[in-house]
Amino acid sequence: MILEETSTSPTLWFLCTLMLSLLADGVAVLPAPQNLSVHSTNMKHILTWSPVVVPGQTIYYSVQYQGEYESLYLSHMWIPSHWDSPIAKPECDVTDDITATVWYNFRVSATLGSQTSAWSILEHPFNRNSTVLTPPKTEVTKDGSHMVIELEDLGPHLEFNVVYWRSEPDAEERSKLIKNGGISVHLQTMEPGAKYCAKAQTLVKAIERRSAFSRVECVEVEGEALPLALALFAFVGFLLTLALVPLFIWKVGKVLRDSCCPTVVLPDTLKITNSPQKLISSRKEEVEPCAMSVLSSEDLLRAWI
Ligand SMILES: *[C@@H]1O[C@H](CO)[C@@H](O)[C@H](O)[C@H]1NC(C)=O
Ligand SMILES: *[C@@H]1O[C@H](CO)[C@@H](O)[C@H](O)[C@H]1NC(C)=O
Repeated sequence: MILEETSTSPTLWFLCTLMLSLLADGVAVLPAPQNLSVHSTNMKHILTWSPVVVPGQTIYYSVQYQGEYESLYLSHMWIPSHWDSPIAKPECDVTDDITATVWYNFRVSATLGSQTSAWSILEHPFNRNSTVLTPPKTEVTKDGSHMVIELEDLGPHLEFNVVYWRSEPDAEERSKLIKNGGISVHLQTMEPGAKYCAKAQTLVKAIERRSAFSRVECVEVEGEALPLALALFAFVGFLLTLALVPLFIWKVGKVLRDSCCPTVVLPDTLKITNSPQKLISSRKEEVEPCAMSVLSSEDLLRAWI
């Protein structure tokens, strides 16, 4: 029995080798893609590999994944990537395949006509918690006296923590959680003449991580304090003028009347007597000062004061 077995094994081995070489000629000549890696920034995950090159031919690739769940409970089942295979480029966006913060494996094969390569597997499984988080691009502007910030839209998983403050010693920082990029968000109302600053960081709750802060950007509402003060000053001036003009007119009128027609105190001798002659002369004297009086500006000023 033992002898029989050892004598048949070389034959079996030969047959197997023949079959394998036939298979290799027909199917597996296409080399498998190499150097698989996942590049992940801001929760966008891209699987890349070195292209398989056959001159004059277009190679297509198929991508499959296996999450921790498939690997543990579904007998290592592989699932085709959401990104419709086959792909002509040596890269694949696998963002939609990764739905949990667990280890994921990927494999890729190349196809040329009826030939299909072996699968090539990612060397180290990927966990989305290793994604590179970058500070968001921000734009801090003013809309009238409102401080407004607009953040880069980085997709549905990303939120932003915005910190803002009035630029002064011992400034109190305030913060706001912004759930979407790509829209303008009002931060606060600014007082004229003061400077306000803000910075932002990217935040991903699912992996409990946050990026560094963006560059600090400031805005200022200038030039509104002066016109306001001027307007107030002009208004007070106008009220004062309104009140003083009638007083002035009344005073000027009084001065003119006093200097043109002063109440002349007549000497006793000129007081009305029985003589009509005297009466006429006294009238004359009464008229004379009025005609002769020269109203000097000095007199006016003294009267005014
Ligand atoms: C894989 O990457 C290494 C280094 O990055 C490179 O030297 C090698 O040529 C690559 N393999 C293929 C098949 O392109
Ligand atoms: C990511 O998660 C894995 C498993 O949960 C953990 O071992 C690893 O330290 C985490 N890495 C980071 C950068 O949080």
